[in-house]
Amino acid sequence: MTRRLVIAIDGPSASGKGTLAKRLATHFGLPHLDTGLLYRAVGAISARTGQMPAEVAERLTAADLDDPALRGDEAGQAGSRAAAIPEVRANLLNFQKEFSSQAMGAVLDGRDIGTVICPDAPVKLFVTASVESRAERRFQELRQRGVDTIKPRVLAEMAERDRRDSERAAAPLKAAPDAWLLDTSNMDADAAFAAALAFIKRKGFRSSGP
Ligand code: DC
Repeated sequence: MTRRLVIAIDGPSASGKGTLAKRLATHFGLPHLDTGLLYRAVGAISARTGQMPAEVAERLTAADLDDPALRGDEAGQAGSRAAAIPEVRANLLNFQKEFSSQAMGAVLDGRDIGTVICPDAPVKLFVTASVESRAERRFQELRQRGVDTIKPRVLAEMAERDRRDSERAAAPLKAAPDAWLLDTSNMDADAAFAAALAFIKRKGFRSSGP
């Protein structure tokens, strides 16, 4: 019998967890949920419409996640604030749990996947990197998108978001005790993928493809 593969990936902003999650999902043929998008959408919609974040979270639909503006830093900060509200987290819980329960398995990335959403996932990764290397990556990414900014500002915003995500009372960012730590400070996306894949193989999982 093949074991269901659920891959829970947590880590701070720009640690490389999103890219890694997408690549692992493609490799194993699994559905992928970027759970940060849920919080970003709640924060952005609430800021735009004035509705309470908990109400927005209760009525969130898949179509709300398609807005390209959700990838920006403004939505990231709004998402981080919305994510500190316990009712918002409670209202997004079922959707995430159901996503992770699909028959074929799933890959989810966020901040509390290994600790709260999928505590029984057979594979848990905690992807991290120094705040300086994460700020450098985000700075390059913003520059490529034509956003006019300076490095000290990106670094300060990154540190502020780290602090809010790790110090909040509701499901703060922290590694599950059984998570495997992957520090990508000195790794590119290919190296991070190869390291994660080797770890998952050691756990006894193989892709069904070629
Ligand atoms: O991963 P991201 O930058 O897209 O996440 C946006 C914000 O949402 C982040 O600052 C923290 C929050 N978040 C969370 O609290 N729990 C998750 N599972 C995912 C994201």
